[in-house]
Amino acid sequence: MSITLSTRAAVARELARAGGEWVSGETIAQRLGISRAAVGKHIASLRELGYDIASGPHVGYRLSSAPDACIPEEVAGRLQNPVWVACEGAKTITSTNDEAKRLAARGAPEGTAVVASCQTAGRGRFGRAWDSPEGGAYVSFVVRPDRAPSEVQALPLLAGLGVARALRSLGVAAGLKWPNDVVVGKRKIAGVLVEMAAEADEVSWAVIGCGVNVGRATQPQAAFVREAVPQAGVAEVAAAVLDGMADTYREFLAGGFAGLQDEYASLLVLSGEAVRVKDAGGRVIAEGVVAGVDHTGALVIDTGRGRRRLVSGEVTLRD
Ligand code: BTN
Repeated sequence: MSITLSTRAAVARELARAGGEWVSGETIAQRLGISRAAVGKHIASLRELGYDIASGPHVGYRLSSAPDACIPEEVAGRLQNPVWVACEGAKTITSTNDEAKRLAARGAPEGTAVVASCQTAGRGRFGRAWDSPEGGAYVSFVVRPDRAPSEVQALPLLAGLGVARALRSLGVAAGLKWPNDVVVGKRKIAGVLVEMAAEADEVSWAVIGCGVNVGRATQPQAAFVREAVPQAGVAEVAAAVLDGMADTYREFLAGGFAGLQDEYASLLVLSGEAVRVKDAGGRVIAEGVVAGVDHTGALVIDTGRGRRRLVSGEVTLRD
């Protein structure tokens, strides 16, 4: 399966393929099976998105620069995992998770991604807002695992692992704070939000979303990709993170969380730390020293009176 590009994204790809040389409107029109007028319309809307495109009467168009943005036109062509079938989104969107959920509810297939450079109503875990200014990478995608809801409880963990893997491949020393915060040292660099719709004992669809701080810190004590990799492009980060999450998702379908457990544990920054775990309402549900994660992804802590497994909650370091 290959990814379907919007016509505007296909025009952007044709310009990029010309590698800084002139390409005629007629050539682009023929390659894409559209009219020259349609090419002109898409060039105009690409310019509005921040593409610097020169044009001349007998030479056609030449791409001088593309925007450093998490938009479908820049992300789609960088995606490598075979799962991708579509890359939707816009420069500004309410929430990529909300858009992906809307598409999933209308039947969008597994591998439909939604990306944005800025969110006006980004959401985090526990119903919190997720500050999403321009300069970040906000991505979500639809999966349709042929599993019962109880079998996919590790989705947030494997998504976090995919993000950490991707950021590490770009040169960022990313670790994991259970269940799915991606951190550099103690500072958060990315967050993951998984939302699901299920019928009886089968998952209809799940949306896996991730927000990465790329260009600048968005919260106090946040880390951002360009601290470690100043030249990282936002679209490059977005595509790496989507591919990373798609990779761990496929590995999970093939071998369960057990196959990812060791890698997850090796990146867990909490091991050996004294922690407090709270539920969604802020109530303390456990305290102890982190021993690791088990084959299901549950956090295992030594409470002093024995070991406890936790399947959800928010972990803070005990002072
Ligand atoms: C958290 O750490 O609380 C999770 C944050 C998840 C934010 C991402 S940004 C892309 C996607 N769209 C949203 O509205 N939320 C997720």
